[in-house]
Amino acid sequence: MLLVIGVSGFIGNKLYNYFKSKGLDVKGTYYSKTFEGAERDGIYLDLSNPDFSNILGLKNLTHIFFCHGVTNIDQCKINRNSSYKINVTNTIKLLENFIPTNVVPIYLSTDMVYSGTQKNFTESDTPAPPTEYGKQKVEVENYITTQFNKYVILRLSKVYGIEKSDRTLFTSWLDSLMRHETILSADDIFIAPIYVMDVVRAVDSLVTGKHYGIFNLGGYETATRYEFSQRLAQFFNYDRSLIEKKSINDFKFIEPRPLYSSLSSSRVIEATGIKLTSVEDCFKLIEKNFKKGH
Ligand SMILES: NC(=O)c1ccc[n+]([C@@H]2O[C@H](COP(=O)([O-])OP(=O)(O)OC[C@H]3O[C@@H](n4cnc5c(N)ncnc54)[C@H](OP(=O)(O)O)[C@@H]3O)[C@@H](O)[C@H]2O)c1
Repeated sequence: MLLVIGVSGFIGNKLYNYFKSKGLDVKGTYYSKTFEGAERDGIYLDLSNPDFSNILGLKNLTHIFFCHGVTNIDQCKINRNSSYKINVTNTIKLLENFIPTNVVPIYLSTDMVYSGTQKNFTESDTPAPPTEYGKQKVEVENYITTQFNKYVILRLSKVYGIEKSDRTLFTSWLDSLMRHETILSADDIFIAPIYVMDVVRAVDSLVTGKHYGIFNLGGYETATRYEFSQRLAQFFNYDRSLIEKKSINDFKFIEPRPLYSSLSSSRVIEATGIKLTSVEDCFKLIEKNFKKGH
């Protein structure tokens, strides 16, 4: 049996549906939102004040996918104590139960563990997170690498979807363009966004191929946020003057944002042979979904 912690979240839900479509036995935890399949496979879990009894009672558990947490970078800083409790203290308490077992933890981490000052971080670059969010992720990573023999830590760059309702990078920009709203887009923040189904396929290939360790996964196209928003507007024939060129310093973030959010994915590609989807192909998928209204 597989267990997804945070099945009601963006990536966790995609993983759950993917494994379900392969006919696997999957359960998942949710907190404030429900999900399709919850009546059969859902387990309520509040990591601020957790009761792990339903999880520990699961039979034949082989893998746990950690896809949960306070994922908003600024919220981790503003509510440092409560986010730390969810993202670190109680995540580690949950993990602790599985050290003496053969259960393999698959932990979704982030490129925010790095300093953000260069392109194409590799797994051997030393983490140096400038944000509370990144520090919390590193703390759990360190716990896993020192306590478990078999694990997967997958450090992800910005993950996006292709559905109108997901409100991720491109779909939320497109929504704004459709409403003729201005998009403020930084021309000095470099990103390499990765399609969520590439993440799901990579996770599946790593697990089925028994590839353990730390892996980076980001999109293979790196450009500034401004350039990507221009590409999107051009593809969908929207007025590109709706996109206002900005600098990182024009945004009032609470926590510093990396200038480079890009990862070298060579290790995961070599291990799994996975082919990443191009941004252009995802635009085509978005076009189809928006036409169908989802
Ligand atoms: N999305 C990205 O671009 C990205 C990039 C790099 C790394 N990651 C990592 O990938 C993982 C998944 O990201 P995501 O974007 O899918 O996250 P998300 O959509 O924000 O989902 C977060 C999940 O955590 C659950 N959760 C929140 N507070 C909780 C609590 N107190 N107790 C128990 N569960 C709680 C949520 O449950 P409810 O919704 O039911 O409240 C939800 O299922 C995260 O660990 C994130 O750090 C994501």
